[in-house]
Order: sequence, then C-alpha cells, then structure tokens
Amino acid sequence: MANQKIASGIYYVGVSHYDRRLFDALIATPEGTTYNSYIIQGQKATALIDTVEPEFKDLLLRNIKSAGIEKIDYIISNHAEQDHSGSIPDLLAFYPGAKLVTNEKCRDLLLALMPDIPADRIITIKDHETLDLGGRTLEFILAPWIHWPETMMTFLREDSILFPCDLFGSHLAVSNIFMDDERVFHEPMKRYYAQIMMPYRGQAAKRVETVKALAPKMICPSHGPVFKDTSVPLRLYENWVSDSLRNEVLIPWVSTHGATARMVEHLTSALIERGIDVHPYDLTKADLGRIAGHLVDAATIAIGTGCVLTAAHPLAAYAALITNALRAKAKFATVFGSFGWSGVKVPDQIAGLLGNLKVELLSPVMTKGAPTAETFAALDKMSDDILARHQSLGLK
Ligand code: FEO
Repeated sequence: MANQKIASGIYYVGVSHYDRRLFDALIATPEGTTYNSYIIQGQKATALIDTVEPEFKDLLLRNIKSAGIEKIDYIISNHAEQDHSGSIPDLLAFYPGAKLVTNEKCRDLLLALMPDIPADRIITIKDHETLDLGGRTLEFILAPWIHWPETMMTFLREDSILFPCDLFGSHLAVSNIFMDDERVFHEPMKRYYAQIMMPYRGQAAKRVETVKALAPKMICPSHGPVFKDTSVPLRLYENWVSDSLRNEVLIPWVSTHGATARMVEHLTSALIERGIDVHPYDLTKADLGRIAGHLVDAATIAIGTGCVLTAAHPLAAYAALITNALRAKAKFATVFGSFGWSGVKVPDQIAGLLGNLKVELLSPVMTKGAPTAETFAALDKMSDDILARHQSLGLK
C-alpha cells in the first residue's frame, strides 16, 4: 500500500498485510490486517504515530519518503505491542534526530521488549500532556486496556483527529484506508473487538465515552479502515460494550464418532423451532475468530463434547478456556455430549473452566453411547429451558 493523504500535512503511511492468517499465534485473521502508521506535519516538527511489524519496516520507510517526508522529529508510541512498535529501533536508527514519545508504562514495556531502544531518546509524557508541532498540537490521553495496560490515544486538537490505538480496529487488509462499506468491515471489526476489547469491556466502555466527549471529526485506528463518519464505530462499539444480548445460542462442539454430532443436530433444530438463532461450530474445523464474534452477544453458550477417556475432548476444553478468557457476555451456559464408559464429570470439568463468566449453568445432557429417544427428549427440555431464560430477559 502506498501513502494516502488524510488531510493537508497528514498521511497514512502504514502497510497492509494481505496474507496474514493468524494473530497473536491464537486467532485467525482470514481477511489479513493492516498496521496503521500516520505522519503529522506541523510548522516546526513532524511526528510519526506508531510503526509497523518489523518485516514491513522498509515499506513504512518508503511510504514516509513518498509522502515527501525527509525528517521525523517525534515517533509517538501509543502501544508497545510489536505490530505497532516493532520497527521503532530501525526508525530511530534511520532518523537519528528523532525522539520517541510515550507514557511511562509504555516506555517500560518497550524497553523490556526491545532493549536496543536507546533510553536517552525517550520523552515520557503524562495523561493529557501535549506536544506542540507548530500550529498542530498532539494531546496524549492514557487509555489502559484498550488492549494492554500501557495503551494510550493521541488526539490532534486543531484537526480534531483521534488516533485511538487498537480501539475501533479491524483485522482487514484494505487497499483504500477510507474503505467505508460496513458490510465489508463489520465482521472483521467485530471479531477484533471480541478478541482485543471484550476481555476488558468495562474499560472499552469508558473509552467510548472519552471518545464521545472529544467528538473527533475523524478516527484513525491502528488496524483497518479510517473513519470519516465517526458515528459508525461509535454506534457499533456502544452496542458491543453494552449489556444487551441476542436471542442466540452459540454451540461450539466436537464429536469423536458422531454421537455428539447427532445431539448437535437435534439441539440445533429444537432451538430453531423455538425461534432462537443458533450458531453451531465444529471445533475440528471452526475459525475461532467467528466463534469469538458470536461471544459478543449470544445469550447462551452450549458446549457439545465427546469424551477422550473420561474427560471432555481437549478442543471443547480449549473452546471453554477461550470463552472464559474473552469474558463472553452470555448469561447462560450448558454442556451436552456423549461418552463411552464414563463421562459424568465432564459438565463440571467444563463449568470449572468458565469461572470468569457470570452465567447460570443450565442442566447438562450427557448420554452413554448413541443418543436415544430419552436423550433427544432431554435436549428438547434443554431447549425449553433456554427459551424460558431468553424470554425472561425479553429476548425475541
Ligand atoms: Fe494491534 Fe494490540 O496491537
């Protein structure tokens, strides 16, 4: 991707990583991603906001040069994670007069992650401190947990442009940073929110209020599209960080010899017959990012699992661990599946992995071997229970 003009003297100089397929060695990024980096020119100084993954540092330098920038005075680090900070040592070497500007926590993390950063070139700022570029003022707003504890936002006051770090980001490689088709970015943005923001939903909600109070004219996140219409990311995030739920059941499941799969089929149909949206995912081939997206607003999570020896299948345990780590909003959870000679402890085992969630655990359905008429009747009863709970929340 080449540089793109954001406004007079302000350029997008980041890169698109079209074929990135995994982030944090954890969750799939089927649409790739971007590492957003921005140039801001003042009358007396030029700042670069964030860098890119180190493997793309040459592209970043090329984009800066092609924007007509020969000298950088300040590199602003909003976040120490290496997809934004990893090129800082090379950039500092390439621009020997540049200073690195960040907050104290970020400074400590940057030095821990990249000890080759020269500490004497770091300027440490405090919350709401400003940096004068000459006719343009950067205000730094500490915003812990819009991914990591050191994250901050940078606000360009005169132009009313907010650089909110990972907040409002999307894992979506784009050729045009102003791509504004919500049908395209909605799913990548939601899965990004689920993975990065949902575990600290309360903090994200606070930051949404901070952003609303700032009322920026443009929002330039650190991944994915830039928003000229700031009402769009605010509307989406206000919904995601809220307590509102959908009349949906997420069913992450795994079946060793088909018995649990038959239970999934039955439960799925039973829930649909009761007017509930169902999202079943076979964990042997599911995209974990899509599952994460449903964790944002599904009211119930029903984990289906076959047994390995006498325990839950490891993939089901993994799904429970992820659900727990991302702190899904669901109000209800349950477990079902088939076992060979003993599986009675499986529901407790799965429930024990969901300690972060504020869920009511509904009665599980575990069956020995192939599901019987009795098993299907128990799944019908489970569907009735779920429907009643959803109705009690007014979900339709
Ligand atoms: Fe895109 Fe948390 O870094």
